[in-house]
Amino acid sequence: MNERTRRLLAIFATFTAGLLLCLSVIVFVSGRGGTSAVQAVSIGGPFNLVDQNGQPFSDKDLKGKSFLVFFGFTHCPDVCPTTLFEISEILRNLGPEADHTAALFISVDPERDTPAAMKDYLANFDPHIRGLTGDAAALDAVARAYRVYYKKVSLEGGDYTMDHTAIVYLMDKEGRFVAPVNMRRNADIVAADLRKQL
Ligand code: NI
Repeated sequence: MNERTRRLLAIFATFTAGLLLCLSVIVFVSGRGGTSAVQAVSIGGPFNLVDQNGQPFSDKDLKGKSFLVFFGFTHCPDVCPTTLFEISEILRNLGPEADHTAALFISVDPERDTPAAMKDYLANFDPHIRGLTGDAAALDAVARAYRVYYKKVSLEGGDYTMDHTAIVYLMDKEGRFVAPVNMRRNADIVAADLRKQL
């Protein structure tokens, strides 16, 4: 598969994942009506991972906090660093209130993203961002829970990259999905939205 085909496939996959997410939200929202026969599709759920300091971290550690979740990998050339920079801007806008929220960067690359690699990488961003990793099974389970698509793609020369869904999720204090975060808006507007959830 050449580079162009690969990129087109990646765009298609991201588009499909986005479409599926929108459908999930519609089903979720209509499911809240109570009369709908459609089963609500949930986004998020329990997980047991390890943070960038090598400490266990689970959904239970987030109780009472609204939080942002983004999936990616430290070798990502563009989308991940850009998004983490934007999340850092949002956290900076929150000021001291950032302590009352959480921002999770969950790896889709268990082979390379050890806690130490995550720690090195996250030194470039806001210190509130918590990097989470784990073995392939644990990361696969959490990606499924968040309806995140990811796929290993071989590159010439034996290297590889990861295609992945690049949606930032806003979750409430109970760990329930609220909305995807529109990262095209200014960080202060997103921060104001997030502040309402605190
Ligand atoms: Ni990425």
